[in-house]
Amino acid sequence: MPIAAIDLSFVRELVRARSGIALGPESDYLVEARLAPLARELGLRSLAALVQRLREGRTGPLHERVVEAMTTNETSFFRDRHPFETLREVVLPELIRKRAAARRLSLWCAAASSGQEPYSVAMLLRDHFPELRGWKLDFLATDLSSEMLARCRAGLFNDLEIERGLPAALKARHFEARGGTWQIAAELRRMIDFKPLNLSGAWPKLPRFDLVLMRNVLIYFDHATRQEILARTRAQLAPDGVLFLGATETSLELDGAFEPLRVGRSVCFRLRDPARKPERGGRGPAPLAAPAARASRASPRFAFPRFASFRSGQGPGRGILVDVSESGARLEHPDPLPALGARLTLAFLPVEGEPPIEVEASVARRTPGGIGLRFTPGTPAQLRIAEGVVWWTADGARR
Ligand SMILES: C[S@@+](CC[C@H](N)C(=O)[O-])C[C@H]1O[C@@H](n2cnc3c(N)ncnc32)[C@H](O)[C@@H]1O
Repeated sequence: MPIAAIDLSFVRELVRARSGIALGPESDYLVEARLAPLARELGLRSLAALVQRLREGRTGPLHERVVEAMTTNETSFFRDRHPFETLREVVLPELIRKRAAARRLSLWCAAASSGQEPYSVAMLLRDHFPELRGWKLDFLATDLSSEMLARCRAGLFNDLEIERGLPAALKARHFEARGGTWQIAAELRRMIDFKPLNLSGAWPKLPRFDLVLMRNVLIYFDHATRQEILARTRAQLAPDGVLFLGATETSLELDGAFEPLRVGRSVCFRLRDPARKPERGGRGPAPLAAPAARASRASPRFAFPRFASFRSGQGPGRGILVDVSESGARLEHPDPLPALGARLTLAFLPVEGEPPIEVEASVARRTPGGIGLRFTPGTPAQLRIAEGVVWWTADGARR
């Protein structure tokens, strides 16, 4: 279902006003692909008819559904792995030590999607920090999308979702089979308070947080919206609290009040101490404590493959737009960024025992942290790959 330019602008403005999500000019096909099923479901023959319905009312369930349809909910358990290792080995031990007297810890997962991220943290807390039993744990997880929040509360995951990032031992320990799906234990579901919150709208009264995960959501906003959200996050963070952003968001122009902390392979952020003078001579900010203190009680390192699943586009000629970072491909900061429209061959390192996979794509979007790809028609609906898409070719030049 094609969409007229005037209707496209209306949808873009609606989505921007209600979610902060900035749909660039390269997202036309994404709007068509995401809204066509909704139009069909409502018995409408065209996207023009759908947009006409939107124009008729100022607000309502249809407006919400359109905005939700334009969110990208890509997520996985223990996404990117190292942030969770850093949490387990460094950040949480330090916060727990500092809060030992108050016996209270406050966490916020600010774009929870279908729940894999907050539940990864919940499993980590349950398995590695038994001392927290008896503490007051405030664990808030929020998202714009009511559909995603319903999924979070249900805690149900299909086989593919379970396979993405969840070690078998954790599946066995924390999940129960439920008619073809897997449900996370009630104890972990009860640990988290799932609430709607639009990061770009008015925020409800929130507590001070010791830890905030706001990962892979700022990338969808424009510069001014990111800055505003980060300023508000700053006000919610305890003076010694820690903020995690997504892997490709660490290089975004951050609010100057945050300083990056490099721990192993991950970067998190803490509020800059206003009393501390900016350092000269490249010494950088004070590091968090080294992980050695916990090494003796740390469980074996997780060893799990990553999986990328790409949903196929709608209809012939339609591609899909995938942030490479979101697919798990880790094509961060390719240097130089290939041009819009450049044709790429991506070589995926397959899971052991499976043949190599190569797919053709063209660059449909450039973001500060990577590139969005449109795959050629006929690309398999789902690709199962091992960790790391290790190389790619652009216009014949192998990197
Ligand atoms: C790509 S997912 C990231 C999920 C998870 N944080 C992760 O890193 O795996 C982005 C999520 O942000 C949510 N989102 C988009 N705009 C939002 C907004 N204005 N306020 C709150 N959540 C929003 C979407 O609904 C989606 O679930």
